[in-house]
Amino acid sequence: MAVLWTQDYAVGVDLIDRQHQELFRRFNSLIEACKERKGREQVAGLLDFLGGYVISHFQEEESLMAAHQYPGAAAHSSEHRDFAGQLRELRSHLDVEGASFNLLIETNESVLRWLIQHIRKTDTALGAFLQTRR
Ligand SMILES: [Fe+2]
Repeated sequence: MAVLWTQDYAVGVDLIDRQHQELFRRFNSLIEACKERKGREQVAGLLDFLGGYVISHFQEEESLMAAHQYPGAAAHSSEHRDFAGQLRELRSHLDVEGASFNLLIETNESVLRWLIQHIRKTDTALGAFLQTRR
């Protein structure tokens, strides 16, 4: 099922919210592809995108946290490292087994969890903190 970006996911920093919206779009297009039974063809493309995305997007957030001396920075960054690790694992599964059905399921679950747990809770908590600094 598609997950739509709503204000519940808003961090309040334009650049970050645009990057999050892009992640939602990518996730939803994988879901669409799955409905058309083309998910396995697209999963490699999503993992390629995410490989670059996590590096630049996490850097943006982490430099914001450093600039504003965010007290939750360490815990937040450790979630980033966990997700980056999950992606590396998925990537190596892809390299070893190819785009299997299992890989597709694991990728879906991992990204969905990221959207509804990290963005919805951890990133919006950072956003709320940043609002108090303005
Ligand atoms: Fe984050």
